[in-house]
Amino acid sequence: MAVQFSVTPQETTLQRYEHLYINGEWVTPLDGGYIETIDPASGKPWAVAPIGGIQDIDRAVLAARTALKGPWGKMPGHERAALIRRLADLFSAATEDLAIIESRDNGNPVRDHRNSLAAQVQWYQWFASLADKTQGTTIPIDDSVHAFTTRVPIGVVGAIIPWNAPMLSTCLKVGAALAAGCTVVVKPAEQTPVSALLLARLVHEAGFPPGVYNVVPGLGTVAGAHLVQHPDVNKISFTGEGSTAKRMLRDGSENLKRFSFELGGKAPHIIFADADIESAINAATASAWRLTGQSCALGSRVLVERSIYERVVEAFRERAKCVRVGLPSREDVHMGPQSNEAQLKKTLSYIAVAQQEGARLVTGGKRISTPELASGYFVEPTVFADVTNQMRVAREEIFGPVACLIPFDDEEEAIAIANDTIYGLTAGVWTQDLGRAHRVSSRIEAGTVWVNTYSFLRWSTPYGGVKSSGWGRENGINALEPYLETCTTVISKTGKFPDLYAD
Ligand code: NAI
Ligand code: MG
Repeated sequence: MAVQFSVTPQETTLQRYEHLYINGEWVTPLDGGYIETIDPASGKPWAVAPIGGIQDIDRAVLAARTALKGPWGKMPGHERAALIRRLADLFSAATEDLAIIESRDNGNPVRDHRNSLAAQVQWYQWFASLADKTQGTTIPIDDSVHAFTTRVPIGVVGAIIPWNAPMLSTCLKVGAALAAGCTVVVKPAEQTPVSALLLARLVHEAGFPPGVYNVVPGLGTVAGAHLVQHPDVNKISFTGEGSTAKRMLRDGSENLKRFSFELGGKAPHIIFADADIESAINAATASAWRLTGQSCALGSRVLVERSIYERVVEAFRERAKCVRVGLPSREDVHMGPQSNEAQLKKTLSYIAVAQQEGARLVTGGKRISTPELASGYFVEPTVFADVTNQMRVAREEIFGPVACLIPFDDEEEAIAIANDTIYGLTAGVWTQDLGRAHRVSSRIEAGTVWVNTYSFLRWSTPYGGVKSSGWGRENGINALEPYLETCTTVISKTGKFPDLYAD
């Protein structure tokens, strides 16, 4: 069945997507239905998308389980690699359509999506390159046995995807899971259901066997929860909110499901007075407002040494004026709207909280009400100074374009503030003192520390959180680890087993 996905950025007629993708077929929901998905730039629906219910999840899981027993389960790694490479090529050719769909669904500028999607082609290539390297080891014990390990796919994986970077999140989970030989059921966020369906078309064209990749958009509390509870799902790979992860641990406890979690952050971005201040400000302002602040990796706590504090505050104020906020379809726009109404409300409420708690509003702080943007979910790039690390805006994830600038007096204090958080995903350090770069980066509790750069993330760099930022790592040479089990085989060379009851 042909599925039409082409859409232009300014399309005003409602797009209709009718089908879930299960067992290699486009099917109508059995017990789900349809939802309107909102374009956050206009606040109006741009598409109608299918959502699956309990029965739809059940048949997707059955298809994924069955596929493991079929040709996919027997396919050698280099053939899986070839399929993933074909997918990468098809993905590369589809990036323009995908960028527009992602932008309509989540509001980030088309050009940001285009850049991210181009990188995802490399990501798929990387996963393909790992698919035939899931080697075990031989274990020297003694001459009586041959002991070795094999790496086997963990089984059926439920990939539960957030709305802030739908295709990137899907790529990191699905690319690795398929390379490892697993099968997947993807549950995109209800706010951004469409792009994973387009990916299904590409998977189909690439020639993956039926049931290997299934997509069931749906509500988190219905389709998502059922996927987590499902006894035939071996593992859940999730990116999203910490409270959702805790709920999942309870829901998935029945069959001791495996989990990988990527759960956000409150990254410290530390600027010492001895830094290349210009570059530090470039990076810190980019990371405060990029993707409208809706990324777990961004430096939402900017820690600045007191001697340069007011200078940095001033630079943030000036730079905020240069941020072009506008319709995400425009090529010259730096920042789009918040991705959904709930997030808009959340961001505005944290802006109010910051003021109540005594932070100094330097610039921004309001929803944008110009005629062109008033119906969308646009918020001004916002800067708060004199933030203390005890304030809620320094402790809780805002996920909006809100920079919080916290002064510090010395290295010890900077490290103490940086680590005084439940999170530990990423961090940034700006200093030209080599010793300090090593001292500070080694003491910060975070999965990734960037020194004199920021948001540098590639397929080959392991990514994930310590503390409450998550479990496990995506990317890197060990990217398939979370989707594999190690099994040990011991073979006797004699085949003889003594009678233990002989005397
Ligand atoms: P969420 O964690 O509720 O949603 C993420 C995904 O989980 C969606 O696909 C959703 O349908 C699904 N889900 C929700 N409840 C579920 C359940 N009980 N069982 C199974 N699946 C479920 O996040 P939400 O509410 O969309 O965003 C709230 C906040 O979470 C944001 O403001 C942000 O602070 C944080 N967040 C962090 C992300 C990250 O990249 N680490 C991504 C998205 C949100
Ligand atoms: Mg939620």
